[in-house]
Amino acid sequence: MSDKHFYEPQKGHGLAHDPFNAIIAPRPIGWISSQSKAGELNLAPYSFFNALNYTPPIIGFSSVGAKDSLRNIQETGEFCWNLVSKPLVDAMNQTSKPLPPHESEFEISGLHTVDSNVVSVPRVKESLVSMECKLTDIVQLKDAQGGLVNSWFIMGEVVGVHIDNSLIEGGVYQTLKGEPVMRGGGPGDYYSISEANYFELLRPQ
Ligand SMILES: Cc1cc2nc3c(=O)[nH]c(=O)nc-3n(C[C@H](O)[C@H](O)[C@H](O)COP(=O)(O)O)c2cc1C
Repeated sequence: MSDKHFYEPQKGHGLAHDPFNAIIAPRPIGWISSQSKAGELNLAPYSFFNALNYTPPIIGFSSVGAKDSLRNIQETGEFCWNLVSKPLVDAMNQTSKPLPPHESEFEISGLHTVDSNVVSVPRVKESLVSMECKLTDIVQLKDAQGGLVNSWFIMGEVVGVHIDNSLIEGGVYQTLKGEPVMRGGGPGDYYSISEANYFELLRPQ
């Protein structure tokens, strides 16, 4: 008998809980602010999120189902990414509530907006770091047979970056000081980082 649990997702995982999210973890959170053409504000967390390129910087996140963020970004071609620091987790969680488009997650979570410099979508005032983005691509995901999946990968070029000066020391961005929160596998699983988790590993020359 093999010492590995093997499964083909299409046929079920055979475990008490689907391990997929717990394996690809912890995941950074894309806290995405967006705005409809009519000016309705939206804010929501997305953990199928990551940085995709250096120059130009490009980030992307996946909308599992057609959600308000996707619709807004389709309409305006703009969005902002905002850092979820540990003190903001409860507010972040509130913003995952499904709300009708005319109700703003900013209001229900007690957060405030601040104007962006390059795009017209506002940022989260309370976030220590925000990135203003212009849409580059929206790709509807496909399965291995080429069948369309009800999910969309949204990518944007970062055209403006706001960093709280408290996070910059000697010209170096201090990741730890931003207290980034990451998503685990189960519905309530999150991770944060600490100095104790740090180690250095340089690439081979
Ligand atoms: C930490 C966290 C991560 C999430 N990640 C995703 C994700 O990657 N993709 C997704 O479609 N929904 C994700 N959700 C759920 C959305 O935030 C939720 O459906 C939200 O209502 C979408 O908002 P919108 O319709 O205003 O865009 C996540 C929720 C939480 C709390």
